Amino acid sequence: MSIARYMGHFRMAALACVAGLGLTGASAVQAAQPAAAAAQASAEQPLYSSRGAATCQKCHSGAESVSPDKYYAKGFDKNVLDILATPHGSKGDAHSPFGQHECESCHGPSEQHVQSGSDPTTHRKVSPTVVFIGPNKSSIAERNKACLSCHENGLRMDWAGSQHQNHNLACVSCHTIHVAKDPILVRATQPEKCFSCHAAQRALSFQLSHHPIREGQVVCTDCHNPHGSPGPTLLKKVRVTDTCYSCHADKRGPNLWEHQPVREDCTNCHNPHGSVNPRLLKEKVPFLCLDCHAATNDMGAVGVSVHSVQPNSGSFYIYGDRSCLNCHSQIHGSNSPSGSTFFR
Ligand code: HEC
Ligand code: HEC
Ligand code: HEC
Ligand code: HEC
Ligand code: HEC
Ligand code: HEC
Ligand code: HEC
Ligand code: HEC
Ligand code: HEC
Ligand code: HEC
Repeated sequence: MSIARYMGHFRMAALACVAGLGLTGASAVQAAQPAAAAAQASAEQPLYSSRGAATCQKCHSGAESVSPDKYYAKGFDKNVLDILATPHGSKGDAHSPFGQHECESCHGPSEQHVQSGSDPTTHRKVSPTVVFIGPNKSSIAERNKACLSCHENGLRMDWAGSQHQNHNLACVSCHTIHVAKDPILVRATQPEKCFSCHAAQRALSFQLSHHPIREGQVVCTDCHNPHGSPGPTLLKKVRVTDTCYSCHADKRGPNLWEHQPVREDCTNCHNPHGSVNPRLLKEKVPFLCLDCHAATNDMGAVGVSVHSVQPNSGSFYIYGDRSCLNCHSQIHGSNSPSGSTFFR
């Protein structure tokens, strides 16, 4: 962890306290003090509890649920202390929540929650400043601000304005905090979470030809950054081809004879999520080729002149499925001395 990033964490934490949790500049300075500092903000402002997590754990220890409230009695907080096994629970790390206000680094100042009795009509305590799930959850903006106060940089550089931000996803739409290991960070369990909203991609992953996603060898985040991207469709790299080259380096070339659609965008011919056709092809060969080569098309592909490409002609069906590829076998580009037509 660089010094700059370390300082960044502190600065961001302080800013969030000012902007998100309703403190003044003066108390934001206190907010940068280590854990469990006695809260000294004025009466109408939310206060931090005086003993930090120790206070919370009196009631939220998982094992003994303290409330008769039905929703609470379901055991919604039974895993609360699993957080202690994660980087967030690291007391020795000054930029982790437990190096700061412990539970309240995320849930916000919660003294009123601790002190309040049950409301006579609702039989409930005053909620903490930030509630992440359940019927009393805070607004998406408030919840995300709590996380972004420490995590705005790095992979989240393009979060603002990203597809997921625009469609009102919360960080906790994907992340789970009170578990020993967040399932979205585990390759074997990540796709399931994404599939829960992306049914089309789930269906494609069951096609005959697919990237080995369900087999656990490739995950969505090998190609996508779900937090945002400077390029289209949340891809990690601005260009599709660069995304693919990171694993299929052999397709990068350089080649003496380049096939223009390959240079432009692999998805001219492939569907990365799956296909009924072999090799993730969007269409079977020769139909794939003839989309562009039956006549001059808007990419400037030449129509075929030297041999017939009519159904029943030799070059159409020759050797079954491979068809055009029997001769034009180096379809991603070639260095062949025989010329520009992708022969071996
Ligand atoms: C005196 C017992 C007690 C203490 C101490 C306590 N809580 Fe709670 N907390 C409860 C109860 C009971 C509920 C369930 C809501 C209700 O029935 O009032 C609850 C609910 C919550 C909720 C969910 C709120 C909601 O509206 O859904 C959060 C988050 C929470 N507590 C966090 C904390 C944090 C953080 C601390 C320490 C600063 C803390 N609690 C200290 C008893 C306590
Ligand atoms: C007070 C600062 C702080 C807050 C608030 C905070 N985090 Fe973190 N988070 C950290 C630190 C420090 C680490 C571990 C070091 C690092 O950045 O890689 C971490 C790690 C993580 C990780 C990686 C965990 C792992 O097992 O590798 C995830 C995911 C994460 N945070 C998500 C969140 C989400 C979601 C929220 C809001 C609910 C949040 N964080 C709130 C400071 C914070
Ligand atoms: C659409 C799902 C999704 C959303 C929404 C999401 N994340 Fe993540 N997050 C992931 C995935 C998947 C990973 C693992 C990334 C990887 O392995 O490349 C991750 C990794 C992380 C990490 C650990 C890696 C790192 O950057 O150091 C942090 C921290 C994190 N997310 C914070 C956040 C915060 C803060 C938000 C809300 C602003 C958020 N995430 C929203 C899916 C999501
Ligand atoms: C890194 C941020 C973070 C820290 C630190 C944190 N929580 Fe949470 N808490 C969350 C998130 C996010 C949820 C939503 C459920 C989940 O992701 O596990 C949650 C859920 C809860 C709930 C269930 C009610 C609700 O919807 O908010 C309780 C109760 C709770 N936390 C108490 C605590 C206590 C007690 C501590 C300290 C021991 C603590 N939390 C520390 C982020 C945090
Ligand atoms: C091998 C790289 C790769 C992997 C792995 C991958 N994607 Fe994609 N994804 C892409 C590319 C490239 C596009 C752009 C497609 C286009 O422009 O036709 C895309 C587009 C998308 C889109 C936009 C809709 C669309 O089809 O254009 C969604 C949603 C999506 N991916 C979700 C996922 C999910 C969920 C996973 C994991 C289950 C995943 N992707 C895994 C490369 C990948
Ligand atoms: C809570 C639901 C939800 C979850 C979970 C989720 N997404 Fe999304 N995702 C959306 C919504 C809503 C959109 C925007 C509408 C759309 O394009 O479908 C979106 C958009 C996208 C896009 C861009 C589509 C485009 O056309 O630009 C990609 C790529 C994507 N998600 C990938 C992922 C990946 C990878 C994961 C898991 C790490 C994931 N999503 C998890 C709801 C979700
Ligand atoms: C994280 C690494 C990774 C990335 C990134 C990646 N691939 Fe793959 N790709 C693989 C693996 C692994 C296989 C399976 C290889 C095998 O089964 O021998 C594969 C197989 C393929 C296949 C052959 C499928 C079949 O049925 O034989 C095609 C086509 C393909 N990838 C295209 C792409 C395209 C297009 C992109 C960019 C959108 C891309 N890949 C990005 C790892 C990756
Ligand atoms: C003009 C259409 C077209 C484009 C564009 C294209 N491919 Fe292909 N690709 C094919 C065809 C056809 C096959 C099947 C080749 C065969 O069976 O001999 C194939 C097969 C593959 C395979 C599996 C067999 C092998 O050669 O390794 C991979 C991996 C692959 N392509 C990756 C890519 C990548 C990465 C890109 C973008 C840089 C890309 N393709 C762009 C047509 C295309
Ligand atoms: C998305 C459109 C597209 C698809 C699909 C496509 N091509 Fe091309 N192809 C082009 C373009 C554009 C050129 C460059 C034309 C030029 O340089 O005049 C080209 C060039 C060629 C050339 C070299 C022509 C020459 O005169 O040097 C051959 C051979 C060729 N393609 C064969 C194929 C085969 C076989 C397939 C199917 C596997 C295929 N193409 C699929 C667009 C496409
Ligand atoms: C039996 C081998 C063979 C098969 C099969 C074949 N071609 Fe060709 N193709 C050639 C030869 C030979 C040339 C001329 C090469 C030269 O002029 O250097 C050629 C040239 C081309 C050209 C360059 C433009 C032109 O006509 O001069 C395109 C485009 C092309 N073929 C597309 C296709 C498509 C699409 C298919 C499948 C429907 C296909 N070819 C099947 C052998 C074949």
